[in-house]
Amino acid sequence: MTSRYHEVYESWKRDPEGFWADAASAIDWFRRWDKVFDADAGVYGRWFVGAECNTCHNAVDRHVAGGRAEQLALIHDSAVTGTQRRFTYRELKDEVTALAAVLQDLGVTRGDRVIIYMPMVAEAAFAMLACARLGAIHSVVFGGFAAKELATRIDDSRPKLIVSASCGLEPGRVVSYKPLLDGAIDIARHKPERCIILQRPQQGCDLIAGRDVDYAEAVAAAKAAGRAVPCVPVLATDPLYVLYTSGTTGQPKGVVRDNGGHMVALHWSMGNQYGVRPGEVFWAASDVGWVVGHSYIVYGPLLAGCTTILFEGKPVGTPDAGTFWRVISEHKVAALFTAPTAFRAIKKEDPKGEFVRKYDLSGFRTLFLAGERADPETIKWAEAQLGVPVVDHWWQTETGSPISNNPVGLGMLPVKYGSPAVPMPGYDVQVLDDAGHPVPAGTLGNVVVRLPLPPGCLPTLWNADQRFIDSYLSEFPGYYKTADAGFIDADNYLFIMARTDDIINVAGHRLSTGGMEEVIAEHPDVAECAVIGIHDEMKGQVPCGFVVLNSGVTRDVGTIEREIVALVRERIGPVAALKLVVTIKRLPKTRSGKILRGTMQKIADKEAWAMPATIDDPAILDEITAALNERGIGI
Ligand code: COA
Ligand code: AMP
Repeated sequence: MTSRYHEVYESWKRDPEGFWADAASAIDWFRRWDKVFDADAGVYGRWFVGAECNTCHNAVDRHVAGGRAEQLALIHDSAVTGTQRRFTYRELKDEVTALAAVLQDLGVTRGDRVIIYMPMVAEAAFAMLACARLGAIHSVVFGGFAAKELATRIDDSRPKLIVSASCGLEPGRVVSYKPLLDGAIDIARHKPERCIILQRPQQGCDLIAGRDVDYAEAVAAAKAAGRAVPCVPVLATDPLYVLYTSGTTGQPKGVVRDNGGHMVALHWSMGNQYGVRPGEVFWAASDVGWVVGHSYIVYGPLLAGCTTILFEGKPVGTPDAGTFWRVISEHKVAALFTAPTAFRAIKKEDPKGEFVRKYDLSGFRTLFLAGERADPETIKWAEAQLGVPVVDHWWQTETGSPISNNPVGLGMLPVKYGSPAVPMPGYDVQVLDDAGHPVPAGTLGNVVVRLPLPPGCLPTLWNADQRFIDSYLSEFPGYYKTADAGFIDADNYLFIMARTDDIINVAGHRLSTGGMEEVIAEHPDVAECAVIGIHDEMKGQVPCGFVVLNSGVTRDVGTIEREIVALVRERIGPVAALKLVVTIKRLPKTRSGKILRGTMQKIADKEAWAMPATIDDPAILDEITAALNERGIGI
């Protein structure tokens, strides 16, 4: 099949507003927009201004009314507990409506914030949709974050209420959520009025009288009362959710997603980019706490009338490296979306793909990888094992859907290994040098997107327009800075090579080294520190902390390093995955005092490096090399 990509991309370029107005016809609107795009609204303009809609209506009610009531909407497959639950669109509507009634009774109305701090259970998706139904704004916080991170998000978003659970289940470990939740509320300045707690059978928890509500009891009561809660019309430009993502400091950025543009962009992507049709099964093996979970576990597949899978487990160890193939064959998955790290983990356990051949994967058509750079070796291994196209595509929490992709639905273009393919409609991607000038094809530079960003991208940061401008729009006027470095080749294929800021990507999780440094600096024995991301075979990158101790510290260095590891785990959470702390005498700096993190990373990763001309004392780099070599790194 010849690809329609070039024709479609050109049609967007010729008439962006016409293109998105056309895509918007797939969505039900309560009121049509006054303007497809209003350049004078918001920070850089707003999409579908004046329109009224409801995301829950489009993801749930519309399908019940339109003939999909008995089709499966959501399958919760827990490889950790060995259980499955299935919900048709009708059942999904009942669950969401009942929970919306509970939220409403607890005072949640349009525009209120609700934090959802939950493991991978179906109720996490119900909570998101129940908020959408009421026009409330949800903010899902990933379960691997600790109390302090949750507290930061509570103080920034000021939720009326929190929906949480008694526990999460990591392989071999029950994660008690309740102490983390209570701890976070204790630390936070803002106190949510109520908490709704889902009691899981694996580990229950005590409820605080007057504050905590039992999820199951409250929902059962709402169902018994036959409560009907209609979808509340909201403006297309009203926020659907705020999702916090790592910035360059410990203060995370609240990415705002609106209702209208988000629905249009996701719906368009399901058919044209992912190539799935209504009624088919789509599986994003991620977590609802990440943007992939928002867009492609919950909203995208449901808006498109697909069946989505919410998977609680890991690619390996729950119980083995065949879990993904079991899920694909059992639920007849047409397309899987996951991070390359998951495939590296599977490949390590099952290099010959023996588990793959135990399952019937005949209905499986495409594997999509994103979240970090997909190394060609992993892609080729996956292609050989699965016999289907493997598509690397690139996007960010900020964009909510792919910036670049190989659009399966429009017809695939030739694959170039190492490239997440070509820009999608809506994205005029350019590569600029540090002075803001375009660079020739094939030259590495700053990857930017010409404004305006398309529907579905962040219009701003939560309560922080100026931070949005400073973080993304100021450095290259007229463009959105992706903070990725890369190049575009002569065929317009993108190559995304590295971040230009201090964000690192650990097992597909986006983490701020600056945030970790802030925590390490709190240790009483630490004078100075620097955290860098170093190469890791499975996770892509892992953090490595360098610390300089206060003069006069006589305590055992190994003990201090272990305390620092524990401190980061306690403050940020296990997801930070900081296991390596190296004590050194001094940090390498430029004469103006800037820490040479880039050079340290190159030494650790055994990449070629040149002595920085501005270095304060070149001998320090020998000390760093020796300290790393002692740990078996950089040899
Ligand atoms: N709640 C509590 N703890 C969590 C958690 C959660 N939701 N998710 C992860 N953690 C913990 C893990 O248990 C681990 O703890 P440990 O240090 O005690 O072992 C730690 O956080 C680091 O987790 P992770 O980086 O995920 O490593 P892992 O060894 O548990 O698993 C992979 C490695 C590759 C199997 C796993 O990262 C994976 O499946 N990745 C898929 C990619 C993905 O989901 N990306 C999201 C964007 S698409
Ligand atoms: P997140 O916001 O967590 O989705 O992380 C976004 C970042 O992950 C991007 O800015 C990139 O640095 C990286 N990333 C995501 N997808 C890819 C990809 N396909 N190739 C290279 N890097 C990627």
